[in-house]
Amino acid sequence: MRRRQFVLGGLSAGLGAGATPALALSKAKPSPRAAIPFGAAIRVDLLRDDLDYRRAVLGNCQLVVGEGGLKWIDLRPQENQFVFDHPDRLLAFADANGMRMRGHTLAWYAGMPKWTEAIKTKKAAEHALYEHIDTVVGRYKGRIPSWDVVNEAISDNPAIEKPMRRSIWQDLLGTQHIDMAFRRTAAVDPQAQLVLNDFGFENPTDQCRAKRTAFLRLVKELKDRDVPVHAIGLQGHLPGEKEIDRDGISRFVAELHGMGLAILVTELDVIDDKLPADSLVRDEIVAMRAEAFLQAIGDVCRPEAVLTWGITDKFTWVPIWFSRKDGRPNRPLPLDANYRPKPMMRVINEFTRARP
Ligand code: XIL
Repeated sequence: MRRRQFVLGGLSAGLGAGATPALALSKAKPSPRAAIPFGAAIRVDLLRDDLDYRRAVLGNCQLVVGEGGLKWIDLRPQENQFVFDHPDRLLAFADANGMRMRGHTLAWYAGMPKWTEAIKTKKAAEHALYEHIDTVVGRYKGRIPSWDVVNEAISDNPAIEKPMRRSIWQDLLGTQHIDMAFRRTAAVDPQAQLVLNDFGFENPTDQCRAKRTAFLRLVKELKDRDVPVHAIGLQGHLPGEKEIDRDGISRFVAELHGMGLAILVTELDVIDDKLPADSLVRDEIVAMRAEAFLQAIGDVCRPEAVLTWGITDKFTWVPIWFSRKDGRPNRPLPLDANYRPKPMMRVINEFTRARP
């Protein structure tokens, strides 16, 4: 019998009513914890057209976010036109099935319709941003409880380029566009959780370290200006071939949490284009990266939500940018292309489950 078991065994045998010496506590059950809601980015048409997809969402998700629908490119085909069909349908699906819907995203550098190229002045940019937020957040006031207000504001590699990513908003309004977007959204829906969402923090590289530093600096500046940022969205698009910087992420999350910010994992998937071909090996590495990432956060605080960017390998954005040279399908998500749970799903379920 190993010393620890002997010691603990002796302690538990000697424990009278109420006696709980420190060492004995290590036998005590881990502290209770609430479940973390899990969800996924959804393609609205598939909810209608693919019964297996719909079943997978209903069977696994408490949260949904539109993979599209609330991006400018989908919502605003023309300057004076708002197309709410997809977000309305997703919200109706969420409401009908006891789910909550996240809003993604109000201000982003990408996914901008061509007509916005005509926005050339600060005044025009401010008008466009405020009109958009007033109309979109106003429509869903009290019904979409959490918004990615600003998405991917930090450049890909602040170690070699300016920290703030170029966008119509950054170019014309400067970093103040973030203040403006958050304040306007808070004014339109004071009850909504307002989230600053970004990616690229996860690995032990100069690039990720520089991105974490730049992001922390931005968040501190926003908090110093009393900008109503309530939470941070860590997208979690993890490069499967790279180690997870557990200490680096834990320190990063501790700084953010220390500023009173909630943490959400908003777009988790594992980009497997550089992982071995064998599916079983790849799935295990994918699960290992997801677990290391989630635990690095969990070592500091429980995220308020965990969402993956899609639910099944059958429908993922990953091959758009990261298709495999061997032509094999990517396997970045919790369910395989036949909707069977993979090790990644088990990792997420274990991390998010309640503990009595
Ligand atoms: C992606 C969608 O999944 C694709 O379908 C679309 O073509 C491009 O955008 N970070 C984000 C998401 O915040 O909005 C992106 O979604 C993936 C990267």
